[in-house]
Amino acid sequence: MELIKVLHISVAFFFLFFSIYCQCHPLDPLNPDEINKIRVIIQKSHLSNVTFHYVDLDEPEKNDVLHWLSSHKLQNASFPYRRARVVVRANGESHELTLDLVTSSIISQKLYLGHGFPPFTLNELIQSSILPLSNPKFQESISRRGLNISEVSCIPLSVGWFGQVKTIRVLSVPCFYLGGTTNFWARPIEGITILVDVESMKIIKYLDRFRSPLPEAKDADFNSSSQGSVTCNETGSFRINIQGHEVSWANWKLHVGFNTRAGMIISTASIFDAVRNEYRRVLYKGHVSEIFVPYMDPTFEWYYRTFMDVGEFGFGRSASTLVQSLDCPNNAVYMDGYMADSVGQVVQVPRAICIFERYAGDAAWRHTEIGVPGTLNTKGQKEVNLVIRMVTTVGNYDYILDWEFKQSGSIKVGVRNYKIL
Ligand SMILES: *[C@@H]1O[C@H](CO)[C@@H](O)[C@H](O)[C@H]1NC(C)=O
Ligand SMILES: *[C@@H]1O[C@H](CO)[C@@H](O)[C@H](O)[C@H]1NC(C)=O
Ligand SMILES: *[C@@H]1O[C@H](CO)[C@@H](O)[C@H](O)[C@H]1NC(C)=O
Ligand SMILES: *[C@@H]1O[C@H](CO)[C@@H](O)[C@H](O)[C@H]1NC(C)=O
Ligand SMILES: *[C@@H]1O[C@H](CO)[C@@H](O)[C@H](O)[C@H]1NC(C)=O
Repeated sequence: MELIKVLHISVAFFFLFFSIYCQCHPLDPLNPDEINKIRVIIQKSHLSNVTFHYVDLDEPEKNDVLHWLSSHKLQNASFPYRRARVVVRANGESHELTLDLVTSSIISQKLYLGHGFPPFTLNELIQSSILPLSNPKFQESISRRGLNISEVSCIPLSVGWFGQVKTIRVLSVPCFYLGGTTNFWARPIEGITILVDVESMKIIKYLDRFRSPLPEAKDADFNSSSQGSVTCNETGSFRINIQGHEVSWANWKLHVGFNTRAGMIISTASIFDAVRNEYRRVLYKGHVSEIFVPYMDPTFEWYYRTFMDVGEFGFGRSASTLVQSLDCPNNAVYMDGYMADSVGQVVQVPRAICIFERYAGDAAWRHTEIGVPGTLNTKGQKEVNLVIRMVTTVGNYDYILDWEFKQSGSIKVGVRNYKIL
């Protein structure tokens, strides 16, 4: 099966002055109190029966952020506005709202009439995936295949867009068979197409076109033989200092945020320039903006699998709690993530991000000088970097995202992807 992934990393580089630290930062992600406040404001509004599809910080203007960062040590600079952007659905319509979190008010509200829909809620994804199991036609298809319905597991998939003028909120729900393995991805039950209308939460299309042999359960497991042996204690070279969401390490200062869509967000990263004796801005904001996964299989059961893993499923919402010594070395420190669920309640992702110093046995620079008669002079410096990592699991894909900060001033962004099948 062909698989292509396109990764766009949105980064905006520029240089400016940056200094001093405060307990709060204008780009801090929404905290649990703020998420609760948002729910209450919307519950009190004229919108009834809402489901929350998107809740995030409405970032202040870049100029305001930069001004505050460079001047708030004067005590009199005003903190840029604190707002939230919210997309809710009510009575089959999408509403986009902007909330002021200081005055607890809705400052703008718009009925969205354009193409497309906000992300599905987790609740919608779960409801859709269990719908087939109680459907008589599906039960019959399963028993005709000689399979046991108790061993069937279905997953909700977005359906892509193929030029339709009018689209509806649907999920396609292919099913898989456990039958002795924990790795159901390896055992797709082919030939069946189930389309769920998410608005009415009903199956609107059911097709059973063919049967094909089920791959064997034997050897399908992906059990790990042992917990990884990540060692990292060569280091301890610099202190990782974390206050709120601001991180400083060696000559770097930066901000680490989190939201439902992008997951980890790096912003206002600056490096100390010893020559100028000041911090210089290197990166205003960086995060993964989309991962496109088109399978490019033209068959009827597979052609629509053209996923947008960030926009449709959410890297933050799919973030994994990191496991010490498997995902991150023992010297790592962790940061939690917070987001809103479909009813606006706070959801915590414990240890969503880890931050650690890494020494991989590389040289930051070196030179052997033989030009001085009678001497052989080798000098260099070991490369010790700061790594900020998150892991997100979208279906059978696990993405490991690393932002690596080098003392030289360069930033290396890395993505590793493991696919279970
Ligand atoms: C609100 O939702 C409930 C449960 O889904 C439903 O029974 C009720 O009719 C809805 N009310 C309105 C005004 O849509
Ligand atoms: C803040 O205070 C400084 C020094 O007292 C002053 O020069 C500056 O104009 C003030 N800025 C604002 C925005 O009030
Ligand atoms: C079907 O699977 C369930 C759960 O694994 C098991 O308890 C049950 O005995 C199975 N039924 C048949 C007919 O094999
Ligand atoms: C994998 O894990 C499952 C569930 O923990 C267990 O039943 C199975 O025996 C394991 N398989 C292997 C090959 O270790
Ligand atoms: C790493 O070094 C620190 C300081 O020497 C020590 O406290 C810590 O236990 C070490 N961690 C591991 C995993 O060896």
